[in-house]
Amino acid sequence: MTQVISISNQKGGVGKTMIAGTQAHNLADRGYKVLAIDNDSQGSMTSYLAKESEIKLLEYNIDQEVTTGINNSALLFEDDSKVEPFEVKKNLHVIGANKKIASVQGDTIELLDNYFFNVDRLKQKYDFVIIDCPHAPGLLQQSAHVASDFVLAPVNYGKFAIEGLEEQARSIRQLQKRLNKKLKLIGIVVNDRVNRSAKQGQSQVEQLYAPVLEEKYGDLVFKTKLTRYTHVQHAIELGESLLEFAPKSNASTESQALTDEILERALVPEVEV
Ligand SMILES: Nc1ncnc2c1ncn2[C@@H]1O[C@H](COP(=O)(O)OP(=O)(O)OP(=O)(O)O)[C@@H](O)[C@H]1O
Ligand SMILES: [Mg+2]
Repeated sequence: MTQVISISNQKGGVGKTMIAGTQAHNLADRGYKVLAIDNDSQGSMTSYLAKESEIKLLEYNIDQEVTTGINNSALLFEDDSKVEPFEVKKNLHVIGANKKIASVQGDTIELLDNYFFNVDRLKQKYDFVIIDCPHAPGLLQQSAHVASDFVLAPVNYGKFAIEGLEEQARSIRQLQKRLNKKLKLIGIVVNDRVNRSAKQGQSQVEQLYAPVLEEKYGDLVFKTKLTRYTHVQHAIELGESLLEFAPKSNASTESQALTDEILERALVPEVEV
């Protein structure tokens, strides 16, 4: 059965796009069929997963009413859309975004309904659908949550990121009541662990916030904590997976450990998360 996972937190810059893109690569490398959907008009996951040249070539597809292409997640809001994913590599397909997705307009319920049904149609061919969400609450975030089984929330150590998480948890509870009863928080991943070269102040921040997070969310916090590494930054800039770019790096090892935990939680529905 396909598992749809939204990567979401109502706080900017916590690593949602990095995690969506790198986890999509990891799952595909392990042989799962993965569809990555970009629901953010910044299109950052799209530029990471697809090569820049290909994005340019296909940029105007929507205007030309061509439905295959990489910048077409806006079409998911249309009734019976013919949008087709773009193949990045074996097992990994993308429905990309550009600023057009920010101007989607219409009756909210109808738009959510269209999005749900389009994702439902597309997901049949995949084991996982990973949706990169914008941090702003609204149609683009809500539609992803309506179509998802799980929300995975990245967080960094800081007041605003933890508040963003609380907002996120509240909006998931709202959605569970009405539009999507099966939606679950699969887990919270800290993307802010300091490495040895980090400054004193940063590790004090970690000491302050790590217990707050553990106390409030307990086992929902993934055991794997992600560290800020330049390898991650460079892999993203070069459009490569961590396994390709730096297979033996700590960055790749941590990323794979997170994949293990996601698989444990997503593939065993009996487990209470
Ligand atoms: N573990 C990490 N190591 C190194 N760089 C990272 C790491 N996590 C995120 N980054 C970098 O930090 C920046 C912000 O990350 P990212 O874009 O994934 O955040 P986001 O939550 O998606 O932000 P937004 O809310 O704007 O969509 C990016 O430049 C990204 O490459
Ligand atoms: Mg992002």
